[in-house]
Amino acid sequence: MALVNTKKMFEMAYKNNYAIGAFNVNNMEITQGIIEAVSQEKSPLILQVSRGAREYASNSWLKAMIDVAVKENPEIPICIHLDHGDTVQTCKEFIEDGFTSVMIDASGKPFEENMAITKEVVDYAHKYDVVVEAELGQLGGIEEDVVGVSHEDISKHLCDPEQVEEFVKKTNVDSLAVAIGTSHGAYKFKKEPKLAFDILEAIEKRLPNYPLVMHGSSSVLKEFKDLINKYGGAMPDAMGVPEDAITQASKMGVCKVNIDTDLRMAMTAKIRQIFAEKPSEFDPRKYLGPARDAIREMVKHKLHVLGCNGKAAECA
Ligand code: G3H
Ligand code: 13P
Ligand code: ZN
Repeated sequence: MALVNTKKMFEMAYKNNYAIGAFNVNNMEITQGIIEAVSQEKSPLILQVSRGAREYASNSWLKAMIDVAVKENPEIPICIHLDHGDTVQTCKEFIEDGFTSVMIDASGKPFEENMAITKEVVDYAHKYDVVVEAELGQLGGIEEDVVGVSHEDISKHLCDPEQVEEFVKKTNVDSLAVAIGTSHGAYKFKKEPKLAFDILEAIEKRLPNYPLVMHGSSSVLKEFKDLINKYGGAMPDAMGVPEDAITQASKMGVCKVNIDTDLRMAMTAKIRQIFAEKPSEFDPRKYLGPARDAIREMVKHKLHVLGCNGKAAECA
């Protein structure tokens, strides 16, 4: 099966109350770990590339790896998505590179400007059967190339349900990332994790049958956090989105769930463990291989949390 866009995936996910995992890729081991997981679980898949990933590994390398994955897994529908595209030009370049889905993130701009920029990308992308995701409201946290609001300000920048209908109608955008209290990275909450499900419910009421997206949805799994802290790391206060909240959101119109931090932590935890337990090891295959296995097992678990395991055929 060739690369696909997300139309069919989102249609089935919405109808059957599950969500598709959108996993960030930066290198071969991460990509292979994810692919092995979806292949074993027969799940549809969104692989996403951030600007940081493109700067690190280059689009052509990442795209070539994904093309191999598509060729070797004809039964798995795979979408290749630009994560947090910052300008119209960036989105156009990724479309020219063969991506089947792009995100234009103009969420830091005033509402009217966000709409105008999004519409320009949509008008261009749809000519090539590429789908577009936009964002309303702003997330917290700071990643390498994605700047969000400070923790204290997250609640002031949540998605305003009153804006969603006008935004979708005027832009014709295919899916909408809505800020409901998550943030990027490993430090999402200071105390108790809390998502604004009331806002999600209000959005879903206004946009029935419309696919929503949740960014910043890593759970910061205890297993990896503990390994990292045990073997010389320092992430004592890391806290993510509880997995039952992800499952709940997947039944409330959220069809795409973005996960990057959990991949990073699985890989880091395994490598730290091996370096600590076997200081003489210097063959990268002996620590990157187990890191890839850890990613595979973690992703398999996530596919069950999202409910998209076994759904490859219906999304193809
Ligand atoms: O949205 C944020 C992703 O985790 C990508 O992060 O820009 O550091 O690759 P990155
Ligand atoms: P996490 O940092 O929670 O993995 O979020 C990733 C993300 O939203 C990528 O767009
Ligand atoms: Zn994001």
